[in-house]
Amino acid sequence: KPRVFSGIQPTSDSFHLGNYLGALRQWVAMQDSTDALYCVVDLHAITVDHDPKVLHERSRVSAAQLLALGLDPERCTLFVQSQVPEHAMLAWILGSETGMGEASRMTQYKDKSAKQERTTVGLFTYPILMAADILLYQTDQVPVGEDQRQHLELSRDLAGRFNTTYGRTFVVPEPYIVKETATIKDLSEPEKKMSKSSASPRGCLYLLDEPNQMRKKIKSAVTDSGGDVRYDTEAKAGVSNLLNIYAALADTTVEKLEGEYAGKGYGDFKGDLADVVAETLAPIAARTKEFLADKAELDRVLTAGAEKARGLAVRTIAKAYKKVGFFPPV
Ligand code: TYM
Repeated sequence: KPRVFSGIQPTSDSFHLGNYLGALRQWVAMQDSTDALYCVVDLHAITVDHDPKVLHERSRVSAAQLLALGLDPERCTLFVQSQVPEHAMLAWILGSETGMGEASRMTQYKDKSAKQERTTVGLFTYPILMAADILLYQTDQVPVGEDQRQHLELSRDLAGRFNTTYGRTFVVPEPYIVKETATIKDLSEPEKKMSKSSASPRGCLYLLDEPNQMRKKIKSAVTDSGGDVRYDTEAKAGVSNLLNIYAALADTTVEKLEGEYAGKGYGDFKGDLADVVAETLAPIAARTKEFLADKAELDRVLTAGAEKARGLAVRTIAKAYKKVGFFPPV
């Protein structure tokens, strides 16, 4: 079975529809066909301002949401990054393989640092830590959204370079990006990707929103002055985004939906989509609460996951340490 690894940041109280359709749905689907490890990446989350208590709780809430979405600790390895110290150890090694120019080209760093009053070295080296996450587990495939493609490219370059310099050490990972849902757009500004930093309170739909709130957000989504439900990402970015969301959630295709809504207006279309969204996502909040109700059990599951992950991580660290001339960790 191919090895799969992916991660998500615990930087908000709820994941959003972009996270779900771009990545998390694939995580759930890949559990049986692959040997999958999924990680709540709290080390990445301290690269911007954070409150320690809030971060700690958000890591739990994140894990609970992943379980609620259908990750099953019997069929995949789910853990929190800070419980496996080898991530930071490998990041240090890879940092010394990365050129300043190469790291400076990362567009997400440029975007994020422009929004911060004070930019940290951690934010700058973030993609190197991400490469470490992936390479540590000899990963074949990484299910992510389009915004992570450049980081994946860096991971591949670093793996290849290290292998060339020191001899075969890392598997060179492939991105796994589903075209239709690679970038879910903001509901209010469909030129931008959906993200928690949306300028509009209705632009980002959270998995833990109340069903009525979800309905309102879909119904107030920006469309265009035309009237037909047709896919055209240039002229009809808003409608096209809603079509992608609808097709993914209802397990149908954009073409079929265009047929169904031919001659009908945006009102009908949005109303039906609002129902699909609310019905599909509503059970997640309730299930997340259930997983959070027993924190001791949740922490036990996560620690067991970390132990499994660590068993793999130490092997890669042993190899990489030897290759670069270090003494073995004691
Ligand atoms: P993060 O936490 O920002 O997002 C988690 C996942 O959601 C995807 N995503 C989207 N997909 C489609 N449309 C959107 N609007 C959208 N917004 C977010 C992201 O592409 C991602 O797959 N650097 C990563 C976390 C990470 C990681 C890793 C991922 C750390 N180490 C190792 C893979 C492998 C990040 O910040 O994702």
